[in-house]
Formats: sequence, structure tokens, C-alpha cells
Amino acid sequence: MADLSVTFLGLHLKNPIIVASSGLTATKEGVRKAVEAGAGAVVLKSLFEEQLRAEIAGVAGSAEVHPEAEAFLAGMGMNEGSDEYLDLIRASRAASDVPIIASVNCSGDSAWAEFAARLESAGADAIELNLGVVPTDPSVSASAIEDKLVSLVGSVARSVKIPVCSKLGSSYTNTGNLAARLSKAGSRGLTLFNRFYRMDVDLDAMSLSAGPMRSSPEAYHESLRWISVLEGRVGAELCASGGVYDGLTALRLITVGANAVQMCSAVYAKGYSTITSTVAELHSWLDNHGIARVADLRGRLARRNSDKPELYGRLHYVKALTGQA
Ligand SMILES: Cc1cc2nc3c(=O)[nH]c(=O)nc-3n(C[C@H](O)[C@H](O)[C@H](O)COP(=O)(O)O)c2cc1C
Repeated sequence: MADLSVTFLGLHLKNPIIVASSGLTATKEGVRKAVEAGAGAVVLKSLFEEQLRAEIAGVAGSAEVHPEAEAFLAGMGMNEGSDEYLDLIRASRAASDVPIIASVNCSGDSAWAEFAARLESAGADAIELNLGVVPTDPSVSASAIEDKLVSLVGSVARSVKIPVCSKLGSSYTNTGNLAARLSKAGSRGLTLFNRFYRMDVDLDAMSLSAGPMRSSPEAYHESLRWISVLEGRVGAELCASGGVYDGLTALRLITVGANAVQMCSAVYAKGYSTITSTVAELHSWLDNHGIARVADLRGRLARRNSDKPELYGRLHYVKALTGQA
């Protein structure tokens, strides 16, 4: 059988399938199910920066809460404090033989950065920072937003010895430039991409409502493009997130350069057993193709290994010009 082991964030993973931060990993039972199903690593649900700032200020519950945080917290019963979160890390670490990655959903404020050391002391093997900023003020420049994120990541990375990973949205002007800056600031990995909370409108109630929480299997193309372009060019190791529903999609993302992939919506849709079937699919595809190690596949179709790099930016255009579109 093919060797599925990979490294991500300098950690040894027995396979590249990571269960993503979500309600699936909000309890030690959820983590246990993910591990028993065969996950290579688990990212715990996010602790929201607003929770930490409220606690640090000693005024829990009175801090201004980001609308996205509020919706996640309300929808998922996630209003425990940091002590419960540290307990979740300890319990998950004690019960698991795979890396346990803590997660903080950040708005860019560095005030809580020193708290990261407590995540480390509780036993987290790494920290994923969900840089979940949705800018709503048109007067703030892209560079001001990015400067804040880079500064935050640097503060957290300096506070801990464990690796730090940044989880980004897909709407930056130049994702590669931000990726390189985050890497230089101390982000050992990048998770591409976060799925932002979707808004909708309830016309009858004349109020805002939540849009669909889950992604569809087509969502992976966005990560695939960016991972193919950034692999080996920004310093950080890359993890795909978004639309990974099966083993073949995971292999496509690894082929363009992902060290590992995260699964979330597929597990919500099909249960934890989908992790087991995804890992089995990796085995059977690699065995059928005579590839001994999944790591040997990584980056084969990344831009930096291509003799036609122009295809990575303008595939459709090139096809149109050559009459293949
Ligand atoms: C119900 C739900 C809750 C989520 N909660 C978090 C969270 O707390 N922190 C986080 O970083 N991402 C969260 N996410 C985003 C996922 O980790 C993942 O990045 C996203 O759903 C895209 O992957 P997918 O297509 O496999 O679902 C959540 C997603 C869903 C569907």
C-alpha cells in the first residue's frame, strides 16, 4: 500500500486529510470521531478573538462582537470562554495520536496575541489563525488591512514556539504578495481558503439572515488555482480548504502543491465516515498508478515546475487563442 504520510507545518501527518475547524471539531467527541475515522490531523473549532479580548479586558460579554463571530457563536452554541477552549485542547491532545491544531478567528487586532502561549501550553501542536476579515469600511486601504494582519501574525508567531498557520480568504488584490509577507512574518503555513459566512435576506422578516453554511464540491477550483501558482514561491507550506469532497480532489490539490487538504462541508454532508472513504480512495488511486508515496506527487503540476507558466494565469485565454475553448 502507498505511503500516505506527509509533512505540514513541520508536523508528521500519517495522511494529508485534515478535518477543518468547525462545529465538527468543537467537542472532544467530535475530535475523537474524526481521529477514529482516520484523519491525519484535526483543526479545532475557532476561538473568536472577540471572546479573548472581552476576557482580557475583564468584561466578558461586553466587547463589540464582529457580526460573523456573533452568527457563528449563536448558530453553533460556541459561546464558551477560553478556559473551556484550553480544556478542549488538553482533552483532544490526550486522546489523539494525530496533530491537534488550535484555531483563533482574528479580526486583525494584536491585543490578544500573548494568549497564543496558553494554547501552546495546553498542548496544541500548531495554531491556525483564521484571518477572517471582511472589510466594510471603504475608506480603509487594502495595504492598511494587510499591514494589520501581517503585524498580528508576527505577534502570535513571536509568542509561541509551535508553528503558526494563516487561513486566508480568497479576495485579496494580490494573494501571493500577502502570502509572502505573512510567511516572512512567521506563518509557516497557509490554508487557502476560508469560506466566509454568507449573508442573505429574509424578506418576510425584513431582516438579514444566514446564507448557506456549506460549500459545494466545485469550490475547490479556487484553492487549486492559487496553490498551483504559489507553491514553492512564498515560503510557507500550503494547505487546501474548500470543496474537498473526495480523494480524487485531494490528489488534484496535492498534485498542484498542497502539503495537506482540509475537509469540512463533506463531513457535515456525509458524516465522519467520509474521511475513511477519502483515505481509502487515496490508497487505491496511488496503488493503481504505481505511485509509492503521496509525497512524490506533490507539486508535479505546480507552476514553478511547468515549462508553460503562462497557462496558470490565462488558461482560458490561451485555449481561446489556440481554438481549444
Ligand atoms: C458550519 C461551519 C462552521 C465553521 N466554523 C469555522 C470556524 O470556527 N473557524 C474556521 O476557521 N473555519 C470555520 N469554518 C470554515 C471551514 O473550516 C472551511 O474552511 C470551509 O467550510 C471550507 O471548507 P469546506 O468546503 O470543506 O467546507 C466553518 C465552516 C462551516 C461549514
